[in-house]
Amino acid sequence: MRVLSGIQPSGSLHIGNFFGMMKSMIGWQSKSELFCFIVNLHALTTINDGPLLAKNTLDAATDFLALGLEPDKCCFWVQGDVPEHTELTWILHNFTSMGLLERSHSYKDKISRGLMPNHGLFAYPVLMAADILLYQANLVPVGQDQKQHLEITRDIAGTFNHLFGQTFTMPEAGIDENLATIPGIDGQKMSKSYNNAINIFISKKELQKRVMSIVTDARAVEDIKDPDNCNLFAICRLFLNQDQEAELRGRYLRPGLKYGEVKKELVEIIWDYFAPYRDVREDLTKRPDYVRDIMKTGAGRAGKVAQETMDAVRSKAGLNY
Ligand code: ADP
Ligand code: TRP
Repeated sequence: MRVLSGIQPSGSLHIGNFFGMMKSMIGWQSKSELFCFIVNLHALTTINDGPLLAKNTLDAATDFLALGLEPDKCCFWVQGDVPEHTELTWILHNFTSMGLLERSHSYKDKISRGLMPNHGLFAYPVLMAADILLYQANLVPVGQDQKQHLEITRDIAGTFNHLFGQTFTMPEAGIDENLATIPGIDGQKMSKSYNNAINIFISKKELQKRVMSIVTDARAVEDIKDPDNCNLFAICRLFLNQDQEAELRGRYLRPGLKYGEVKKELVEIIWDYFAPYRDVREDLTKRPDYVRDIMKTGAGRAGKVAQETMDAVRSKAGLNY
């Protein structure tokens, strides 16, 4: 089975990215044919600072490797290094209805937050469809926010297959309902662009600051608390096993729980959880050329798979003459 997903290098990676997508991708490397990439072309829709995008791209690759992605067990590359992504995108534009893109929640959401409504932002889902269809992916592990993008991808693949015969594999979204939308410190979806994220690799001081500002309700210490509607509980449970989660739930349901104490415990839990990865990352950041080499080798391997699909697409669409 082919499993594929990508992540935007639009800022530092956070625990929502980790639990929503990265952890499951790393798990798939030993039980599937895994394709994992850094989508720098997608990040261009919101970043127009060249050095910043270049830095974020290398950082995202470094983070993924530090967290356990093994380049010899999967295909790991940077999207912009494989030109077939943009070539297929152009072809797919011609099989994408305007209405499909006009209904995109993610586009509307970005515009409502003040992003410039440029064409790249509007066409974002078509590039994502090309990313997926190029590699004939069966399963795409993502968070809930990407569900509609997968539906758009399936729609475009269906149109092309209907017109030209079976060409693209129909991909399924792999969304873990338990981790579909991880809240940020303000209770909204955690996101790089909402300034509500707890980043994976930050200093302990910064971690303390972020965790201590997680928004909780105004219940007093002697009140019983509501774990199922508590942002702090939702973040804690990501790091706890079943027994530990049940124990914390018990504390919520008895008088006496202080949110401040739970937050202090959470700081230590997060800090310890990522400690081994922090050491690996520190070593990798000293060897940027090693990381670059891994990505370039990955692009070479991905390119071969992409070319196979493009040969079929070009000939079916009439681009070979
Ligand atoms: P961001 O919104 O922070 O820019 P991306 O769009 O780059 O994140 O998302 C990368 C992956 O991480 C996607 O699969 C996305 O669905 C997942 N993801 C991002 N934020 C969350 C979250 N808060 N909860 C669950 N998954 C998330
Ligand atoms: N749109 C995805 C996000 O914002 C990133 C992405 C680009 C992606 N291409 C992809 C995810 C292909 C899965 C498959 O998170």
